[in-house]
Amino acid sequence: MDRVLICEVGPRDGLQNANHMMPTETKKKWIAALADAGLKEIEVGSFVPPKLIPAMADTGEIVAYAKTIPGIKVVALAPNLKGFQRAIEAGAHKVTFPVSASRKHSESNVRMTPEQMVEEVRKCAQFPHPGVEIEGAVSTAFGCTMQGTVPEDDVVRIAAGLAEFCDCVALADTVGYANPAQVKRVFRKVSSAIGSKLEAAHLHNTRGLGLANALAAYEEGVHAFDSSLGGLGGCPFAPGASGNVITEDLVFMFEAMGVSTGIDLDKLMAARKMMTEAIPQEPTYGHFSLAGFPKGFQAHA
Ligand code: COA
Ligand code: ZN
Repeated sequence: MDRVLICEVGPRDGLQNANHMMPTETKKKWIAALADAGLKEIEVGSFVPPKLIPAMADTGEIVAYAKTIPGIKVVALAPNLKGFQRAIEAGAHKVTFPVSASRKHSESNVRMTPEQMVEEVRKCAQFPHPGVEIEGAVSTAFGCTMQGTVPEDDVVRIAAGLAEFCDCVALADTVGYANPAQVKRVFRKVSSAIGSKLEAAHLHNTRGLGLANALAAYEEGVHAFDSSLGGLGGCPFAPGASGNVITEDLVFMFEAMGVSTGIDLDKLMAARKMMTEAIPQEPTYGHFSLAGFPKGFQAHA
């Protein structure tokens, strides 16, 4: 049976953009519930200046806690060497670096050009990091709310640069501009440049194409997806960005297709309830949460 790996990014991509803070102890319970539902990879926070994103100020404590949960890969985002050093110190298993293909988003998000950011990630890769995996995520790979079109050649060039020293590379539709034909084309182009180093798709559902884009990526051979429970999410430094592909809908789609996710949808819904009760004012999305299981549904988890 075919399998996919779903990485829950709600505690990072979701909470960084939420208007309401989730208390540290609630975050821990939520992450434990996500792990209990079968998520094997969870992006639990980011090591950015706490003044910039106060919701991520407790990431060190959250990483340390998440590491006590057996069987999960604890992922954190870092924007520079200082963040990477903090992530290593906290014990993250994997660190993701956002490297925008859009010059404007890069400058807004990390105050570096794309080229400077590639060099920053290279510096991190050269810093001793025993056992810590490095992912280079090419952000705004399908378009940008500030720059508009992002040339595909820029995406390929940045991905190829990152592939020289990262363990894996992801393509991110940070602002939800992608369509399925574009997803197939860009993944194919990057894959022919860097081969199996291209691993994951990080897609947003801003224009309702999240699942269609995920399916397109899957059909191109992608087996690792980022998503967030209830579709929380968005980049505070990209105007117009909104939520990620919705984890529960993505799990439902794959399980219904006979593709195993390893995730128990009932338990996932319990984790969703915990999240919505903790930040009830935050808008959430999704169809599975409204409609539930179809009669006779068989999960493959
Ligand atoms: N963690 C904690 N503190 C950090 C830090 C990090 N990763 N990186 C820098 N700092 C501190 C510096 O020590 C310095 O502190 P000081 O004022 O007390 O001396 C201050 O922040 C400014 O440092 P500087 O290197 O000049 O950073 P900057 O202001 O140019 O910002 C980034 C650059 C990359 C740190 C910032 O733009 C950033 O964090 N971007 C990520 C945004 C994000 O999370 N986007 C969403 C996810 S894609
Ligand atoms: Zn995102």
